[in-house]
Amino acid sequence: MNGPVKNDRAAWLQGPPADCSAVPTERKRPWRLVLLGAPGVGKGTQAELLTERLDACHLSTGDVFRAAGKRKDCDQSPAMKAALEYMRRGELVPDSTVWDMVRERSHCILNCGGFILDGFPRTLGQAESLRELMGSEKLSLSAVVNYELPVDEIVRRLSGRRTCEKCKSVFHATERPPKVEAVCDHCAGRLFQREDDRPESVTVRLDAYERSTAPLIQFYKDLGLLLPIAAKGSPEEIFARTIDELDQLATGPVVSAGD
Ligand code: AP5
Repeated sequence: MNGPVKNDRAAWLQGPPADCSAVPTERKRPWRLVLLGAPGVGKGTQAELLTERLDACHLSTGDVFRAAGKRKDCDQSPAMKAALEYMRRGELVPDSTVWDMVRERSHCILNCGGFILDGFPRTLGQAESLRELMGSEKLSLSAVVNYELPVDEIVRRLSGRRTCEKCKSVFHATERPPKVEAVCDHCAGRLFQREDDRPESVTVRLDAYERSTAPLIQFYKDLGLLLPIAAKGSPEEIFARTIDELDQLATGPVVSAGD
């Protein structure tokens, strides 16, 4: 359990020098992916698997907010305090706050050997901001993976989720249990249940998804970037499906305008 945690979801939260340190910056075909899908569909789980396979940087805006929530009260800006309240209720954080936070990490998006965005963008405004940022360096997305799953299965996944307080790895109480109950397999951190996985917040989150995030599907479809993937089955099966689709893209003409 000593030494760096492989695939640490918290890595990009730790300030400019800490993130992306293990990601090769000169790569012929870096993967620049956005993961879409309702809360609980399994984006974070797939992002962990994809990060390891594609050797890219995993950026989760939800992880950043949760990390900020753990800071001492006096270290939280008024905007961050307001953001955490939105999050607790299951509502989306305002675009301006999200963008301020993502912009702090813009070097991850622009300089790394690829990235996997999990939980961002979530509104059309955020998608436009991302497009402008990447466009300023003549970069484009490789694909937008859209995970699809019926609502009853989503609710089941959310109610059993357990997250590591240290490295943010995600488990499920029955479907993906840790080897030792309530202890992270990767770093021995304590596993906890997220505040916004309570039933009343879950309903609000699913509504927010329908209202604000679902329109992104059409936006990215129109740009020819959407890759719909059925999110039924085990994480490994869904991962294999995703890799198959990405492999097909990789044999196509353009993976990234930055190549
Ligand atoms: P965020 O952390 O991004 O949460 P989310 O999008 O609601 O997604 P989740 O993390 O809940 O689910 P997931 O799809 O990653 O599923 P997971 O892999 O964990 O955002 C939280 C909040 O922050 C938002 O509500 C908002 O307030 C705010 N926020 C964040 N970004 C924002 C933005 N850009 N703009 C505005 N506000 C923002 O899987 C779920 C469970 O299922 C786990 O237990 C897992 O082990 C299990 N599981 C996964 N795959 C399978 C499988 N195949 N079979 C069985 N179980 C599985």
